[in-house]
Amino acid sequence: MSKTYMNEKFPHFLHGGDYNPDQWVDYPGMIDEDMRLMKLAECNEMTVGIFAWSMIEPREGVFEFDYMDKVLDKIYENGGRVILATPSAARPHWLGDKYPEVFRVDRDGVREHFNSRHNHCYSSPVYREKVRIINTKLAKRYGKHPAVIGWHVSNEYSGECFCPLCVANFREYLRRKFHNDIRELNHAYWSYFWSHTFDSFEQIEPPTPYTDQSHMGLTCDWRRFVTEMTVDFMRAEIAPLKEICPELPVTTNMLSNYVGLDYRRFKGVIDFASCDSYPAWHSGDQQDTAVHSAFGYDIIRGLTLKPFILMENTTSVVNWRDYNKIMRPGMETLSPFQAVAHGSDSILYFQFRKGRGGQEKFHGAIVDHVGTEKTRVFETVKRKGELLKKVDEICGTAVRSEVAVVYDWESRWMLDASHGFSKNTKKYIETARAYYSVFWKRGINCDVIGPHDDLSPYKIVVAPMQYVADAETIDNFARFVERGGTLYATYTLGMVDENDLCHLGGFPGGKLRDVFGIWNEEIDTLYPEDSNFCEFKGAKHKLVDYCELIHAEGAEVLAVYGEDFYRGMPVVTSNVYGAGRAYYQAARDCGTLSDAVISEIVKERGVRSATGTVEPLGYGVSAHVREDGEDRYVFVENYSDVPATVPLGRKMTDLISGKETDVCKLDAYGLGIFKYSEE
Ligand code: GAL
Repeated sequence: MSKTYMNEKFPHFLHGGDYNPDQWVDYPGMIDEDMRLMKLAECNEMTVGIFAWSMIEPREGVFEFDYMDKVLDKIYENGGRVILATPSAARPHWLGDKYPEVFRVDRDGVREHFNSRHNHCYSSPVYREKVRIINTKLAKRYGKHPAVIGWHVSNEYSGECFCPLCVANFREYLRRKFHNDIRELNHAYWSYFWSHTFDSFEQIEPPTPYTDQSHMGLTCDWRRFVTEMTVDFMRAEIAPLKEICPELPVTTNMLSNYVGLDYRRFKGVIDFASCDSYPAWHSGDQQDTAVHSAFGYDIIRGLTLKPFILMENTTSVVNWRDYNKIMRPGMETLSPFQAVAHGSDSILYFQFRKGRGGQEKFHGAIVDHVGTEKTRVFETVKRKGELLKKVDEICGTAVRSEVAVVYDWESRWMLDASHGFSKNTKKYIETARAYYSVFWKRGINCDVIGPHDDLSPYKIVVAPMQYVADAETIDNFARFVERGGTLYATYTLGMVDENDLCHLGGFPGGKLRDVFGIWNEEIDTLYPEDSNFCEFKGAKHKLVDYCELIHAEGAEVLAVYGEDFYRGMPVVTSNVYGAGRAYYQAARDCGTLSDAVISEIVKERGVRSATGTVEPLGYGVSAHVREDGEDRYVFVENYSDVPATVPLGRKMTDLISGKETDVCKLDAYGLGIFKYSEE
């Protein structure tokens, strides 16, 4: 297994972040001072130009590159590299003033005024053309610049637009999907219901509070369309970059847990994945926060199953939460190294220098308003840079997992849109994270993948609340089990197809009923004050929110309901199918039942953990492994506010102290990085 780098020409961890010298043009000498500080902070990367459109094209068709030339040259002269951004995430005033069509229309039908950023219409031909022109200029001027190692396209694509152009594109999208046959659409959306039958594609409107929201299939298609429009816009942005400098890799920074876009559709469009991450440390349950951000990183890594780039995090504090707490000592290192443990080849921050004014002037940065290197935060950044250099051999190594959790945007969208179950307890992503945490607590690498992804590398796949089961998902799941895999699924499995039409013939739909050897006849939605229970291996487990009334049709029953009129009916089942096994959990537990059952399966299947044990490592503690086929690198992370001792299960080299050891002792918010060779 060889290493995979974002750019072979710079096979090192990147340390640096968003650099906005365009805000400091009136301050002579600032770039030189920044270069001095960049080197002192052990930074080797600057992400340049993200919001610099009005500096580069101050008037329509007038391009000024002198300042940018100087910035890129200086960074290179000082040993740095640049990820160069296209500036489409915010536009200059002249553009919006002259071409109002570039502004989005909201769901109330109101066209935005200038507003802030991330608010352009993806359909607008004018915006696309203006972006094409500026991206072409950037590629021609800087594509071969020795500092530039990659493209950062736009910034955090997000949002939706309801303008007439987008509505027309949506209708086109549906025409393509339904072969221009309105009857096909009517059947897919079951639109005979309430006499909402469509006579033509022209009658279709996006779902808003004022339009027809009775078709869940249409709601889901709108979301698919928003993703498709975004991807289409991104392709248009990338086209001139690839035409002019095909060798430069391209990414866009994603928001990992963002619900609005199905990031799996970005696959094949970007060359490497990247994300922004701002965990809410030091409030609420710290382990939950750690699991939340870990899950986000694994979503991002799961897109390419290669190392990714942490494009933004904060040096200490953000400015946009209700309460903006600074990170406690230790956490400022542990937090970004969590990304490295999950496969990031960088630690990049938003932002290098705090702006003097504007909305983000109190957001964390490497360089504070005081302007010197003599700050606590600067010192911590420098130490992180030194540590990254020390462990540079880890850059490019892979994260390999024997287990995976399925995370499916479409099930999330459709469950959220569905009328049924309960409004407040669907909790799709919370449920996915709860199952993921079973592995996290034990220091077991886990991939987060889609229902159509290749399942063959895994021993165990968990598919929580996989409500949508299209033909491909059904086949993929069945094939995996048939060939020896262990599949663990839960309540709401396989109830609808890709258009939200219920599967006929009993849930879970299609072949899944055979695969799991069960039939799910009813689902009981509990009030918050209700609960049920079951026993598994002598322990009692509380059940809440959803209790399905399932029948075993060949599956072995491992646990049954303890109460109510369905007492004695199955809660957990296991079914042999082909060479594998399919488990079904019919009710939501509070973490203990799923943990007990899945940990048994982990042992049975001989799943490997980072530290040799598959017992939980203790509250707030986890471990992850990166590897290159010869060496394994073990990250031990303590997110709790008390010290932790973690046996490593064998002798390893502590890459921080250089000593051999078989135990890892960590302070509160401590991090250990170890290495050993595969025998
Ligand atoms: C990100 C954004 C950055 C900056 C940062 C502040 O979402 O990409 O430009 O605004 O948030 O935390």
